[in-house]
Amino acid sequence: MLKSKIAGIGHYVPDKVVTNDDLAKVMDTSDEWIRERTGIEQRRYGVKHKQTTTTMGVEAAKIAIERAGITKDEIDFIIFATLSPDYYFPGCGVLLQRELGITKTEVGALDIRNQCSGFIYGLSIADQFVKTGMYKNILLVGSEMHSMGLEYTTKGRNVTVIFGDGAGAAVIQPTEEGEEGILTTHLHSDGTYAEKLSFINPGSHGGYHFDKMGESVDFGYADTEYGEIFVNKHMIDNAQIYPHMEGQFVFKMAVKKFPEVIMEALAKTGYQPSDIDMLIPHQANLRISQFVQKIMKLEDSKVWNNIQKYGNTTAASIPIALCEAVEAGAVKKGDLVCLAAFGSGFTWGSALLKW
Ligand code: UT7
Repeated sequence: MLKSKIAGIGHYVPDKVVTNDDLAKVMDTSDEWIRERTGIEQRRYGVKHKQTTTTMGVEAAKIAIERAGITKDEIDFIIFATLSPDYYFPGCGVLLQRELGITKTEVGALDIRNQCSGFIYGLSIADQFVKTGMYKNILLVGSEMHSMGLEYTTKGRNVTVIFGDGAGAAVIQPTEEGEEGILTTHLHSDGTYAEKLSFINPGSHGGYHFDKMGESVDFGYADTEYGEIFVNKHMIDNAQIYPHMEGQFVFKMAVKKFPEVIMEALAKTGYQPSDIDMLIPHQANLRISQFVQKIMKLEDSKVWNNIQKYGNTTAASIPIALCEAVEAGAVKKGDLVCLAAFGSGFTWGSALLKW
């Protein structure tokens, strides 16, 4: 059977830098609190009404395609991972296809909703398609524009200070070269805790039910003619239209599941933690990454952290970090690279690759 590899990787972050002090101007928080609890110093925000999750994904994709040594017309499948899509539907996959100008080839576009684990889920899907010979150049994109959907008040501070915007992309191709490529991927979920880290509305569980039609209901909010169907005053008043996180609960699960899923990948391939040349953890919180590093007994130079600059960019965080590590020469040909993520769902996963 064929193996697959990441043949090209790219990333894009918007220019606008938002510091902790900037956020402290609109909510009761401080640079000290944010740095101490999360390690974050600043994050990037896209330009409202000019940039979107898709357009940032396109920028990252162009770089990945060029580095893979192909043209956009050779892409034969698209996978787009995000929790902050441009539209409720259709997904960003087709929008990216249109923006990249590759509609003529009519290749399939798959959107996935696995939040922080989105890139690893996408990589695993791409790996299966390539290994079976179905596709030869899969474009995998993880992109987020969180800044459009955060609660910029003290009520939302535990979530808002964490997230940032950005995009990463990879082209996955077959390889027959020695040990090179994706060695193993592992995907998990536990829906028991779905609401612990969630963005509930708009959604089919609530909103304007058919049996209420015709009744006089004060929704009190209608951004568009159709907006009131999904979003009502109760949701606004109770901050149910923003992300919600039980931080400490999520933290405790994360520090348990990260080492577990990394060990699973190592066990499957016969490697030890000391064999890892670079661990790229999803950038959720610097304290989580440091905890994982300690458990795995890895030196500082073997764990890539960039959450200080970008915050948590969810599906984009791993490809941005991997891309930076490659560009910095910290990931070299032949290196054993471990990717690991944990987040909303809960979903988590790992991938082990020989670069
Ligand atoms: O990427 C997806 C996965 N996500 C994660 O893995 C995130 C995991 N969780 C975390 O990273 C941490 O739980 C947070 C950074 C979100 C929060 O840190 P924490 O140490 O768990 O804080 P907490 O939620 O327990 O809140 C402690 C206090 C509270 O005040 P009281 O009730 O003790 O008076 C919060 O209201 O800190 C307060 N607080 C803040 N204070 C200033 C919460 N957010 C802020 C803030 N600035 N931004």
